[in-house]
Amino acid sequence: MTELRVGIVGVGVMGADHAERVVRKTVGARLVAVSDADAGRAEALAGRLSERSADRSAGGSVSTARHSGGTAYAETVRVVEDPLDLIAADDVDAVILASPGSVHAEQLFACLEHGKPVLCEKPLTMDAASALRVVEAEHKLGRQLIQVGFMRRFDPEYAALKQLLDSGDLGRTLLLHNVHRNKSAPPTFRSEMIVRDSMVHEVDVARWLFGEEITRITVHTPAPTSLVGDGVLDPQLAVFELANGAMANVEVFVNFQVGYEVRCEAVAERGSATIGLGSGVFTRAGEQWGGTMPADFRVRFEQAYDIEVQRWVDATVRGEIDGPSAWDGYAAAAVCEAGLESLSTGKPVDVALADRSKVLG
Ligand SMILES: NC(=O)c1ccc[n+]([C@@H]2O[C@H](COP(=O)([O-])OP(=O)(O)OC[C@H]3O[C@@H](n4cnc5c(N)ncnc54)[C@H](O)[C@@H]3O)[C@@H](O)[C@H]2O)c1
Repeated sequence: MTELRVGIVGVGVMGADHAERVVRKTVGARLVAVSDADAGRAEALAGRLSERSADRSAGGSVSTARHSGGTAYAETVRVVEDPLDLIAADDVDAVILASPGSVHAEQLFACLEHGKPVLCEKPLTMDAASALRVVEAEHKLGRQLIQVGFMRRFDPEYAALKQLLDSGDLGRTLLLHNVHRNKSAPPTFRSEMIVRDSMVHEVDVARWLFGEEITRITVHTPAPTSLVGDGVLDPQLAVFELANGAMANVEVFVNFQVGYEVRCEAVAERGSATIGLGSGVFTRAGEQWGGTMPADFRVRFEQAYDIEVQRWVDATVRGEIDGPSAWDGYAAAAVCEAGLESLSTGKPVDVALADRSKVLG
């Protein structure tokens, strides 16, 4: 296979960002098709990307040029009305799913049915039972086709932290303190979504950094900020207990007002390490000092998304995945499901996780 022909399902905020990435930055891949429940949105994006290609082929801006083997060239991106038709299409080798989590299960099963490798944005599915069915269906195929978009694993700072902890230089890791703040979220972003859509990233980070499953979760809800809609419990403070006795906590605050901030401090036997301090350019001018904060996740994690998609393309061409698996997506769903119960009861809730060795043989 010379170039991986990619189709994207769902081209809202994340899907459009990935589309630009595949067209402009990813080597060895070509965006051939997009599909969205809002056909107008898909048409507009395809038109924009195709125009760029036309500009490029006429000697347009180098900064927007996509390089494949060093050569930028024009391409056309077609719009497919039905996402399931895109998944089935012969000219689509692999799929990026950036549709809402509520439709992931159906679209993932279609990818498995057609043998299409898929990079599925988190969450894998909306609950643990459907996520487990996806894991089992993939396992039956005997080949891993699903990679889940927990992109923090590809962020250079998180990757360096993982390497440091795995080296053992600081001794055994005992604790993680995490902070996850967004500038603001729409009023439709309810308390449950703070667990399932935001906290899920720290769920994966904790499982990944410790290399252990989370066995129990408690979600505490301090008196909420007055700056959100009725009944939204924001911020939330959760504690994860891991199978080896380690613990992690996370503050998730999606209406922080200031900017996007993600931090993680690992505490080990002989030291600690912190990432996400935002120590970019620090200036002193006009009787002020300081730096800037990213407005949102696309800015903070741009490099992580770029690396994630490039490595997914490279691995897909080799017939492999190179990142969080369907099992990782399932385990995160199981933790979040317990987290939702804890959110409503205020009590610690044990995570009901299937026996990995039984499911995956
Ligand atoms: N990894 C990350 O950091 C990250 C960040 C943001 C969002 N996400 C995930 O990406 C996915 C999309 O989120 P978003 O913020 O882009 O949402 P969004 O609402 O901006 O975009 C979703 C798009 O999917 C379309 N859509 C709805 N139903 C569809 C269907 N059945 N088939 C195809 N398209 C459909 C909508 O019209 C919309 O254009 C979600 O799973 C979300 O959790 C991940």
